Amino acid sequence: MALKLAVVASGTGTNFTNIVTHIEQGSLDAEVCLLASNNPSAKAIEKAHAKQIPVWVKDHKKASSREAFDRELGDALAGSKAEIIVLAGYMRLLSSAFISRFAGRIVNIHPALLPSFAGAHGGRDAAEYGVRFTGCTVHFVDEIMDNGPIIIQAAMPIFPGENEESFMPFIHKLEHVIYPQALQWIAEKRLTIKSRHVLLVPSQKANNPTVNNFERPCLISPYVEIV
Ligand code: GRF
Repeated sequence: MALKLAVVASGTGTNFTNIVTHIEQGSLDAEVCLLASNNPSAKAIEKAHAKQIPVWVKDHKKASSREAFDRELGDALAGSKAEIIVLAGYMRLLSSAFISRFAGRIVNIHPALLPSFAGAHGGRDAAEYGVRFTGCTVHFVDEIMDNGPIIIQAAMPIFPGENEESFMPFIHKLEHVIYPQALQWIAEKRLTIKSRHVLLVPSQKANNPTVNNFERPCLISPYVEIV
């Protein structure tokens, strides 16, 4: 049975639409029951309407507290019957009550190789630091920001002379590979968490870890299986 997802986004929503595209193409065995947002002008909302996906939106500035907002958001997500909460560019910290309410069922994507460059500006911070490799991470969410057990990461080089603007488009392309893959593993019930290690039941389908069709070399671990 298709895995029920609720996507929570504050902005553009390219990860959201990419997830929907993978569902439509049959490479992700899931359905999106809800797109929730704290930002009434998020582009993700228009994209959800275009796909006839139910939308819940409330401006967080209109809530009396973070906890009150998270309670309302949580009620909407619970009401959608989603099994997994997919954070896709949700630019707010979640309260511990929210995280306990959906314990083990929240995933996030981060535009850097965690645990490096946690926080709201992972790409910019990696560029400013001068690292030679960066990437993106999909992880389960726990009480500490950008800290939970890592499901999959993609790494790529930053070439001399590059800046955030030049390499972030490639990070986004990699995000669009690893997020649906992580969700498909959840749909297939192939992930278990042991302390902070995410164990993946192996498959014969795994492709070569070196992906060269992004105009630069990159490495993905675990190996991707969906295309
Ligand atoms: C992505 O870079 C993701 O890693 C970060 O927020 C961004 C969302 O992009 N958490 P989009 O709205 O999905 O295009």
